Amino acid sequence: MDDWIEYYDSTHTIYVSKLHRDVHFRVIAADIIGYIPFPVATVLDYSCGEALSAAQVAAACGQLILAEPAPGVRGRLSARFASNPKISVRSLDDLTRLPETSVDLIIVISVAQYMAPPELDAAFALMRRALKPGGKLVVGDILRPDVGAATDVIALLKLAARNGFLTDALWGLARTVLSDYWQLRQSIGLQRYGEAEMIAKLQAAGFTAVRAPKNVGYNPARMTFVATRS
Ligand SMILES: C[S@@+](CC[C@H](N)C(=O)[O-])C[C@H]1O[C@@H](n2cnc3c(N)ncnc32)[C@H](O)[C@@H]1O
Repeated sequence: MDDWIEYYDSTHTIYVSKLHRDVHFRVIAADIIGYIPFPVATVLDYSCGEALSAAQVAAACGQLILAEPAPGVRGRLSARFASNPKISVRSLDDLTRLPETSVDLIIVISVAQYMAPPELDAAFALMRRALKPGGKLVVGDILRPDVGAATDVIALLKLAARNGFLTDALWGLARTVLSDYWQLRQSIGLQRYGEAEMIAKLQAAGFTAVRAPKNVGYNPARMTFVATRS
């Protein structure tokens, strides 16, 4: 396995059970909905993964574009949401053809850590072009340089305890140590950014950015940034 897109396209075990996966996407969808500025907004979820609760997000906005680089995941998204007229599924390459200033809100959750810094800069430039003036970009689940894997473990165990899948989470963690995830985390690694560093990166891309008081999802040790197209 060579990269994170291939990993996310494989039958990975990042979610320890079906219940974990369902809870994960429910929590993420609720947080995305909280950022939708008005009911007819056009929303882009960049590298959305399986987006199991995307129908709830689509119900709260005008149009939802689900963009995903992993071809197998994208195929499942297309099949899952084929009958929902508010949802369209795109590759990341397709996004270069998005009309300029056509999107009100772009969401990028738990993605920046898998991208090389220049790749993220190129993505920010594309997003700035697609956003309407005053449109918002929400970059969530950013790993800080000083926080290690143990905090990820604690966040998962707390989510599991609250939602009744603690035993599965413990087995899942044991499996993770032997998994492609751990091997890739050791070999390619994950990109990390400090608060000032991410704000500067977003400013360099043409945004005014602040750190949100609360991270999206359920890992409070990670950070979310809200950037406005300036
Ligand atoms: C942890 S999942 C997050 C999915 C979803 N945003 C969520 O919050 O549940 C990581 C996502 O990043 C995508 N990804 C991995 N490497 C990437 C890269 N280099 N560029 C863009 N997306 C990437 C994967 O295909 C996957 O959809």
